[in-house]
Amino acid sequence: MSRSVKRLSDYQPPGFTIDSTDLTFELDATHTVVTAVLELRRLDPQLTELSLDGQQLQLLSLHYNDKLLAANEFDCTSQQLRLKVTEDTFRLTIRTQINPLANTALEGLYYANGSFCSQCEAEGFRRITYYLDRPDVLSVFRTTIIADTAHYPYLLSNGNKVEQRKLDNGQTLVCWQDPFPKPSYLFALVAGDFDLLRGDYQTRSGRMVALDFFVEKGQGGKAAFALDALKRSMRWDEQRFGLEYDLDTYMVVAVDFFNMGAMENKGLNVFNSKYVLVSEDTATDTDFFNVESIIGHEYFHNWTGNRVTCRDWFQLSLKEGLTVFRDQEFSRDMGSATVNRIHAVQVIRTAQFAEDASPMAHPIRPQQVMEMNNFYTVTVYDKGAEVIRMLHTLLGEAGFQAGMRLYFERHDGQAVTCDDFVQAMQDANHYDLSAFRLWYQQSGTPELTMQRHYEPQQQRLTLRLNQRTAATADQPDKAALVLPVRYQLLDESGNKSGLFVMQEHNETLVFDGVSAQALPVMLEDFSAPVRLKHDYSEQELLRIAMEASNGFARWDALQSCWMLWLDQAMHQNNDFRLPDAFFELYQQLLKLPLDDKALTAELLKVPEYHVFAENFQQIPVDAILSAIHSFRQQISQRLAPELKACYQQHSVVAVEYNEMNVGIRALKNRCLDYLALHGQPAETLLLQQYNSASNMTDKLAVLSACLHSAHPAFFGLMQQFATEWQHDVLVLDKWFSLHAAQPSAQVFEQITLLCQHPKFSWQNPNRVRAVFHAFAMQNPGQFHRMDGRGYQLLTDTLLKLDPINPQVSARLVTPLLSWQRFDLERQALMKAALHRLSAQPGISDDLYEKVSKALANE
Ligand code: TRP
Ligand code: ZN
Repeated sequence: MSRSVKRLSDYQPPGFTIDSTDLTFELDATHTVVTAVLELRRLDPQLTELSLDGQQLQLLSLHYNDKLLAANEFDCTSQQLRLKVTEDTFRLTIRTQINPLANTALEGLYYANGSFCSQCEAEGFRRITYYLDRPDVLSVFRTTIIADTAHYPYLLSNGNKVEQRKLDNGQTLVCWQDPFPKPSYLFALVAGDFDLLRGDYQTRSGRMVALDFFVEKGQGGKAAFALDALKRSMRWDEQRFGLEYDLDTYMVVAVDFFNMGAMENKGLNVFNSKYVLVSEDTATDTDFFNVESIIGHEYFHNWTGNRVTCRDWFQLSLKEGLTVFRDQEFSRDMGSATVNRIHAVQVIRTAQFAEDASPMAHPIRPQQVMEMNNFYTVTVYDKGAEVIRMLHTLLGEAGFQAGMRLYFERHDGQAVTCDDFVQAMQDANHYDLSAFRLWYQQSGTPELTMQRHYEPQQQRLTLRLNQRTAATADQPDKAALVLPVRYQLLDESGNKSGLFVMQEHNETLVFDGVSAQALPVMLEDFSAPVRLKHDYSEQELLRIAMEASNGFARWDALQSCWMLWLDQAMHQNNDFRLPDAFFELYQQLLKLPLDDKALTAELLKVPEYHVFAENFQQIPVDAILSAIHSFRQQISQRLAPELKACYQQHSVVAVEYNEMNVGIRALKNRCLDYLALHGQPAETLLLQQYNSASNMTDKLAVLSACLHSAHPAFFGLMQQFATEWQHDVLVLDKWFSLHAAQPSAQVFEQITLLCQHPKFSWQNPNRVRAVFHAFAMQNPGQFHRMDGRGYQLLTDTLLKLDPINPQVSARLVTPLLSWQRFDLERQALMKAALHRLSAQPGISDDLYEKVSKALANE
């Protein structure tokens, strides 16, 4: 194994490029033969040796121009193919054999569920043939696929289909040509039998585009929403960014075996089926939301990622941060803007802040990487999107769009860096962004402290702001960042709002002519990805929660209240009672919900474990869990009549997925979640909703309400659910997750049973995640047990999974890495688990990189 670290500072431009790539696949589950004809060109005349990447390939033959090379004329190791080169342009013909069926890593070309599917990002193409497998080598691809017609009626690849014919041996040959030069990571091949849902789209300039969705047989009906979401994405990108699609066909394939959410391969997206297949009776409102957002994300990549791509993988945020920003903006225009922002901020405050505080801390542009797959992170994606959002805040919509236009004008068809992007923004706006660029280099979460000082005579309010970023595992020293601070001043004499751009460690902001009661709401809409420390009292926070015109500010003030109350609950053991003013606010919300019902539902929610946990350096697991329990109990008891009334008032909702219905369901089910705590008397209500529900959102809400309240109806309903849905794996995944999140010790036997379930498979990432991600992330009580059983279960799982699928095992290990955040007893148990992993012979690079970092400064 290589175990070598690659550094951004070592970047060298490619010495050769590949002008055209002609691939022929003779598909066979265990013996696929790939013939690659590469037209190469030497860029650096000094070079006399060519080195191609390759992994787990069996080389059958190699031609240099027309000459068959003998074994002693090149050097072939397990990672590379090297040969001497004398000419400036030449052709290589490489025949390799691969075994897609044995490929359980789901990287490269794999065979699962009766079809062939490829996944090449980041470095999977080298598992298909020897190649310059790096994003700054752009080539025109022509792909010929030959396969058995009966089993694989659809043979797909990037671009336009230029030929299709039946061969006389029961096989079909199809040939695809992609006119746009692209790096190898955007290559895709799919072969199989599918249901096909077709649509079309007329672009702004009047061109017709065929939209083809290929899904598992029998599931065609469930792709309609995704097809529609694609049309909305295409329209939105034209209207907001002026960007139009560039090929005649756009294909989406949904597969059940997939390592991540989806992949933006040029003209042929491949999706995890859970992000395509939805219908009201099988998918929740959240599932619908995710489908729309991911369909948008992959579509938006066509410009931000494909037309302009990354120079090297350290620049991943160039395409991912920007594309997440774009998909967030799209979602915000499609649904509740405030709630979307709340959810995006939750991701930063929980997962991203946790990553910054972990041994895996890295800037949005990482400086060193062992396994690239480990850097598809919330930092690169979601913090990357926040960095783009800050640019948008600084430059405004018009300035930002001018920057985008210049970026495409300069770089269409190129592989570029994050710096190139910022430079385009800078030049289009004549706005100096040199200090801003530090966001790309510096990891860690800045802490912004605000202190108020009021002078009654002058009616002057002074805010002292201080920023400080603590050292992270990867970087000891931190400098001051550019922080766009949006604020709103709540004052009887009307609200002032504005933007303050903080640049130094310490700055002051002065408001004149304001009353003593004026309240500054800082960091509105989370205008910078920082932790805000303020000096508000509970009373002041509740005032913001009631009075602020901005929904996000109201929610955020309540979040701060919850932290105060958690703190008090921890110091007063179980005697803490939530204040009356809080109940009055909740009463008000229940009686008169805001127009935005989804926002009301958010405001009525007690934060989850992870939200509380991220505010501590040492996470008091048990205290948090018992405080949450007590908060929920108090709400359900004090507000029982209001909860019931609100529930009843919103119990009838049309099934269709739209903003209003989603909001009403969210509100109703929030009430139900509290009502379930009433024990036996709630049973009728729960069963009634379960049995009458016409949609999965409402059914699942009953199950999770039962789970959260430890209601005895849980097991009966779970059994009923299993019988109803045993044929549908995506629905069954929800059932797996609910079982794994069960907060009692029974969960261990339960998980053993789940793994024996006929539909469970260690090869399928969706199944494995449904059980084990849910266990490790949604069951903190059992995962963090003091007897270590939770850590042990996860470790056993990782040891089993790593040889099958390292990408998935390296993702699942995350909660163990942060051992330093827990008490000494738990620390010892978690370290023991990490040592067990690191002692395992043959552990993957993926897992090794993370485990060794976690153990580095033990
Ligand atoms: N580029 C993909 C996206 O963000 C994500 C991705 C990277 C991916 N590597 C992958 C997806 C491996 C599946 C498997 O849309
Ligand atoms: Zn992406």
